[in-house]
Amino acid sequence: MLLRASPAFSLLANNGVDAQSLSSPNSLSNSLTSSSSFLRIPSAKNPNGGFSVSAALPESNSRPLTGVIFEPFEEVKKELSMVPTVPQVSLARQKYTDECEAAINEQINVEYNVSYVYHAMFAYFDRDNVALKGLAKFFKESSEEEREHAEKLMEYQNKRGGKVKLQSILMPLSEFDNEEKGDALHAMELALSLEKLTNEKLLNLHQVAEKSNDVQLQEFVEGEFLNEQVEAIKKISEYVAQLRRVGKGHGVWHFDQVLLQEGDAAAA
Ligand SMILES: [Fe+2]
Ligand SMILES: [Fe+2]
Repeated sequence: MLLRASPAFSLLANNGVDAQSLSSPNSLSNSLTSSSSFLRIPSAKNPNGGFSVSAALPESNSRPLTGVIFEPFEEVKKELSMVPTVPQVSLARQKYTDECEAAINEQINVEYNVSYVYHAMFAYFDRDNVALKGLAKFFKESSEEEREHAEKLMEYQNKRGGKVKLQSILMPLSEFDNEEKGDALHAMELALSLEKLTNEKLLNLHQVAEKSNDVQLQEFVEGEFLNEQVEAIKKISEYVAQLRRVGKGHGVWHFDQVLLQEGDAAAA
């Protein structure tokens, strides 16, 4: 007797076998070659007389586990109709709310402002009549780091299909001396406050992402910023504590030398 396998394929599809098992050559050929799994059933063309052959899969294989059949070409139709055609609109943007976009732009501004203040501190400590090279170096590196943060957020904005909108940066102080505390402690306390403020702003950004159900943005803020922020607060707190111990004169010079060597050691 001639066995025709092709109708079996269509019957299998109608019986709800998922696309994965059909596309797998092994699973199909196993089913077709296993004699115990062959059934004789009336074909559509020849309901009474002839028989065609179909492969019956074990019951556990014949139903998708979830009860849902993924039909990619049907389901993608909606997405396809939503792909933007005008060049001004991002193609990549998906589930990225206006609130998240605005909050990222705000955070870019925060990072730039902090970077600007640290840059002003670098310029102050680098003056010939101040000459605290360790502090100058520390604040220069801190300023660059904050700018990098701003840039990282800019890249993220573009990645999600938002638009970077830079805002104004405020003019920072240029003098950091303080009669009671001296310049080093005064500047370091200012830095500590700025890092804590930045941390608060980052937590606000995280909250906006949470409200928008944007899991990816939450993960980005957590992974790329929050840990580092806590580390920075700890480090600067220690510097403040040390500067409070050493007073304003020779102690500050010694602290500055340690900071300079620490930087050199880290770079080496
Ligand atoms: Fe930062
Ligand atoms: Fe920072």
